[in-house]
Amino acid sequence: MDTARLEEQFEARIAADDRIEPRDFMPDAYRKTLIRQISQHAHSEIVGMLPEGNWITRAPSLRRKVALLAKVQDEAGHGLYLYSACETLGIDRSELLDQLHSGKAKYSSIFNYPTLTWADMGAVGWLVDGAAIMNQVPLCRCSYGPYARAMVRVCKEESFHQRQGFELLLTLSRGTEAQKAMAQDAINRWWWPALMMFGPTDENSPNTARSMRWKIKRFTNDELRQKMVDVCAEQVKALGMTLPDPDIKWNEERGHYDFGKINWDEFYNVIKGNGPCNKERLEARNKAHNEGAWVREAAAAYAAKQAAREAQSAEAA
Ligand SMILES: [Fe+2]
Ligand SMILES: [Fe+2]
Repeated sequence: MDTARLEEQFEARIAADDRIEPRDFMPDAYRKTLIRQISQHAHSEIVGMLPEGNWITRAPSLRRKVALLAKVQDEAGHGLYLYSACETLGIDRSELLDQLHSGKAKYSSIFNYPTLTWADMGAVGWLVDGAAIMNQVPLCRCSYGPYARAMVRVCKEESFHQRQGFELLLTLSRGTEAQKAMAQDAINRWWWPALMMFGPTDENSPNTARSMRWKIKRFTNDELRQKMVDVCAEQVKALGMTLPDPDIKWNEERGHYDFGKINWDEFYNVIKGNGPCNKERLEARNKAHNEGAWVREAAAAYAAKQAAREAQSAEAA
């Protein structure tokens, strides 16, 4: 069958809400878009372990330590599902990791900010995992089967992350004046970077229209950002805290909260590698990868031995 005919069939399947599976025909650009998006997502999960891993040894109680440990382990699991989903598109995991370690690949800019106090564990869970859920729930309906299925499980775990973060902040908000101030300070620092997680404005996001047409994305960046503002503007009231934006105001006509201007210079600067922790994060990833080399070598040697043994017994049979 010629390519034009195959592409026509592909478009028809997308229009019919069919799932595209690894062995199915897909246009090159669709494959490339997915490899980029899924690998960036996988890298974000893995790099995302670092800011919170920073606090595991300093959690204030056993209960908090267990919850944080479980959360950080979940993120490792998310990374693994996503690298696997990405490999179904015909790229090798080692190549993806090389792209991350060399600084060629991108990951979510939010993880280039430091976690300065214990309250940051609450703000990250509430806002960063909250933004991740907003982004990822629609991805459960993504047209590419392996990505959509991975997202179903990931989203269940993300909602636990978001709730543990909110509950942590709620506890601090009912504590001493110093604890309240620490919680408010964490919210102040994480709010704007969390809104930037949805990516550039729609007018500066040239690939959005095509991703929407392919049903990879179901909502635009600005639509998702607005949902996030609407949800958080209400939830922050339950905390008895405020969002660091004097322009947040309910707009009856729009049926949404209005909000202030995002500092896009900061966003692009962090993306370019000049955020507070870009260098530190890449160094930590490279170090972990290099120190794990012997594990990968041992696993490969074991797999080769097993294969040889199986071949031998097949011969004998
Ligand atoms: Fe995650
Ligand atoms: Fe998470």
